Amino acid sequence: MTQYKIALLDGDGIGPEIMAEAIKILKLVSARNNITFILEHGAFGASAYFAHGNSFPEATKHLCDSADAILKGPIGLSHEESKKIPVDMQPERGALLPLRRRYNTFANFRPVYLPKNLAHFSPLKPEIIGNGIDFIIIRELVGGLYFGEKKTGVDATGKRFVKETLEYDEVQIERIARVAFETARKRKKVLHNIHKSNVLKSSVLWNEVVGEVGAEFPDVEIKHILVDAAATYLCLNPGLFDVMVMENMFGDILSDQGGGILGSLGLMPSACIGPDKAYYEPSHGSAPDIAGKNMANPYSMIGSVAMMLEMSFGMEKESRNVWHAMQSVFAQGYSTADLSKPGTEVKMISTNAFGDLVASELAKL
Ligand code: IPM
Ligand code: MN
Repeated sequence: MTQYKIALLDGDGIGPEIMAEAIKILKLVSARNNITFILEHGAFGASAYFAHGNSFPEATKHLCDSADAILKGPIGLSHEESKKIPVDMQPERGALLPLRRRYNTFANFRPVYLPKNLAHFSPLKPEIIGNGIDFIIIRELVGGLYFGEKKTGVDATGKRFVKETLEYDEVQIERIARVAFETARKRKKVLHNIHKSNVLKSSVLWNEVVGEVGAEFPDVEIKHILVDAAATYLCLNPGLFDVMVMENMFGDILSDQGGGILGSLGLMPSACIGPDKAYYEPSHGSAPDIAGKNMANPYSMIGSVAMMLEMSFGMEKESRNVWHAMQSVFAQGYSTADLSKPGTEVKMISTNAFGDLVASELAKL
């Protein structure tokens, strides 16, 4: 019998609640496909820091090393709470970036998807949404400003200063470009390359290498677009885009904007793929303000499971079934609190109820 070990990193805030719903789906998929998922939890994030003095403990590293895939919940605390943790141990710098670096998960896939019948969740007008929103952001995840050299200090005149560097080499650009072209080839064969080459030299090299890799994909059309203009078009005409590729920081910002045009970051799952290991996570934060209230939207966490089934375990059909199950729950008029105001026609449901409904829809497929 096929057996996969999955490391579950619940994380902080709403993490454990939405992870519990993802586990329901994993268990159902495992039972009906005769596959064993060995599910092991590992401490990670601020909760790990408070329990073990380390936001990415050694035991969690070993668990992740031995896992076939990693499912990770959101991490982080409110700005005030964060100050209780030394800067370098704060969960973003102390756990998440080291996780990305450890497994060199350079390719981050962030689908931005809303079918036409769910257009009411989006803040955009129906005429702008047209037939729905459906594109994917491919974000380089282990380079750029996030991982460049950093220096802080006081200069000769006594002024505090900071210096952070944006570095890429051609190999890093080439490998993400190749992933993007391959993705575009499987979709509409149009790739938007997002850059800022009118100012940044890093973008000049980026565009050059993207163009070179593009020569290997003559069937894919490349469209170069400045990052600021892309931000505008994401609001004015998201239908322009199908596959977008960009460096780390641009991808961080535009993918949140992607969540914004869907109506909530709660609709943003993601896959982070490295040469030997992949991990899956919602693109949003840990929402400490609603933690423990059973009101978070587990869609992005369950969607991350769907991406794992497809990308790590080759279970395309079950992956599609999970997506369909989630869409059909919404199509029946249900909504989680992030997507609708109370008092509107929707049937508002809890974290738990959403997971149960998805499981029962999935069981029908
Ligand atoms: C994301 C998050 C992270 C990032 C934070 C938590 C460090 O915002 O995955 O987009 O900036 O990459
Ligand atoms: Mn982000």
